[in-house]
Amino acid sequence: MNIDGTHFRTIWLSDDGWSVEVIDQTLLPHVFEVMRLTTVAEAAAAISTMVVRGAPLIGATAAYGMALAMHEDASDQALAAAYTALLATRPTAVNLRWALDDMQTRLGAVAEDRRRELAYARAAEICDDDVATCQGIGRHGGALIKDAYDRKGGKDVVNVLTHCNAGWLATVDWGTALAPIYTAHNAGIPVHVWVDETRPRNQGAALTAYELGSHGVPHTVIVDNAGGHLMQHGMVDMCITGTDRTTAHGDVCNKIGTYLKALAAHDNNVPFYVGLPHSTIDWTLGDGVAGIPIEQRDGTEVSHISGVTDGGAGATVRLVPKGAAVGNYAFDVTPARLVTGLITERGVCPASRDGLVGLYPEQAASAA
Ligand code: MRU
Repeated sequence: MNIDGTHFRTIWLSDDGWSVEVIDQTLLPHVFEVMRLTTVAEAAAAISTMVVRGAPLIGATAAYGMALAMHEDASDQALAAAYTALLATRPTAVNLRWALDDMQTRLGAVAEDRRRELAYARAAEICDDDVATCQGIGRHGGALIKDAYDRKGGKDVVNVLTHCNAGWLATVDWGTALAPIYTAHNAGIPVHVWVDETRPRNQGAALTAYELGSHGVPHTVIVDNAGGHLMQHGMVDMCITGTDRTTAHGDVCNKIGTYLKALAAHDNNVPFYVGLPHSTIDWTLGDGVAGIPIEQRDGTEVSHISGVTDGGAGATVRLVPKGAAVGNYAFDVTPARLVTGLITERGVCPASRDGLVGLYPEQAASAA
């Protein structure tokens, strides 16, 4: 995607040919700054502090983290230590484990003197694959938005509600939930996006609004509690969110609050779609509520809020009384029965085992 006319991915190999550069997402939307990662420890810290975030980008950064480790030391011990350090960064997005397993299997199968080159090549492939995958999600999801537009007589704007940030900043480029929106917008279909602010880290207010604004997509930021009201009043034609882990039965785990939006959508007959790449499917799990580890983050993300003053100075202020107990559950699980369809790079399918197996027969077979 373009920032001030320059095309950026969210992660790329530096001009020196070995270090890795990422956009520091903790500073957006107020400051656009690139951070250089030179060690596996820096890559791990970038993931855990959410300099980079979003399931596909977490996977891509982990892949490059393995490459940085191999640049330093390509021994078996270094390979195992890098895997362990990166896997410990965030528990919910399964793309992390997917990318690390892929890298470890390939690197472990070759001699030490070949690992460095192979690691960089495979990390680059994972990034390119993510871009192509997200474009595919955009094509299939864009067709759903076009259908909604046609159903409205081909003249009214299509209103899509999204939660958190599942746009290009959450992937290598294009996004998952937002790729259909970009595709439809680029094709001239009038789309307007209701952007949930997404407390406590405000990925919607900060990142989704920044992305959509940079691309010229009309949007309105709303508080997290507004979606149900808008749906009751016919102001939402469809919801599209991302997912950090999709079980083999079609349960989806996404940013906290997604489940409540799915419930409201169900109660109001609003279609609820989820965009996802193949790397987000966890074939080892069926019941997402019981099986998916839910990240709990530091309570200061709830007790405090950060932004800039009108003068442009950064500021963090306390919201809750000193000493009040706070809980910071970062994700929740939306059961498959509340999901209208899964939008993948291979097409749209029901949120069910049959639906996923129909699109990914070879993955289902190799997981069995
Ligand atoms: O905590 P985050 O910002 O990493 O959470 C991101 C999300 O919940 C996204 O919706 C999800 O990763 C899908 S990304 C395409």
